[in-house]
Amino acid sequence: MLALLYLCLLALLASVQANTEKVIFTGPASITIPEDVHPGLDALQLESLSPARRTLRKQLAVRFPTKRDPSLAQSWYLLEGLEEGRRYEVRICWAATQPTVFSLDTHTITDVFATPSLIQALAVYAEERQEEEYPVDAVSRHQQPLATSVSTLFLQICAAAGYFTLNETLMREPPAVDVDIILDPYILNVFPQSLLPTAAYITVLAVASYSLSGAIWAWLRQVGSQTPRPHAA
Ligand SMILES: *[C@@H]1O[C@H](CO)[C@@H](O)[C@H](O)[C@H]1NC(C)=O
Repeated sequence: MLALLYLCLLALLASVQANTEKVIFTGPASITIPEDVHPGLDALQLESLSPARRTLRKQLAVRFPTKRDPSLAQSWYLLEGLEEGRRYEVRICWAATQPTVFSLDTHTITDVFATPSLIQALAVYAEERQEEEYPVDAVSRHQQPLATSVSTLFLQICAAAGYFTLNETLMREPPAVDVDIILDPYILNVFPQSLLPTAAYITVLAVASYSLSGAIWAWLRQVGSQTPRPHAA
């Protein structure tokens, strides 16, 4: 019965969170980052999500893909401190007033550095970010150096504006979208940790109504047995 309730709950959540996109993945095996890759990773100065820092509030660039240039706006993050074999999800949530189509992907470090299109996209993002957004910040920013043996993934977010406007200025430069990016570890690899309070609430409710209905039934039977039955004998 509880399993059924959880299913209903999940179905409900899926229909409510219209402005959520997510990707589910398992923590990769820890790898030792090769010496030649390590400085490169640090230099990218990517922001990261980890079990210790599970939410990022960001403004993400979006694009209107065109026939001539169908590319999407990309943002890259690191998912650090993962546990090998554990299941996680990353969600991105945004307001309905900023219609956007997001797609999320995770890539292992090895894959990114072995795939020219990925490493190029990542380099472009890191360069633009450091030039435009963080010229001063980059120096003062405290960044924990990556450990040499880590369970880490790259998170790639692609964004396309999900509306159309006759305003050409807006079509060329759609405003950035406010988002929350959330890393959510699964409990026992089946249940997102952040849903736990809701699940606990439903469980308490289910157990309470079950015992309450039992008590009411017992009371009704008692009342019934005391009242003389009109059609009895
Ligand atoms: C187009 O959008 C920009 C940015 O929001 C605005 O400043 C401008 O007035 C708009 N132009 C027209 C013709 O509506």
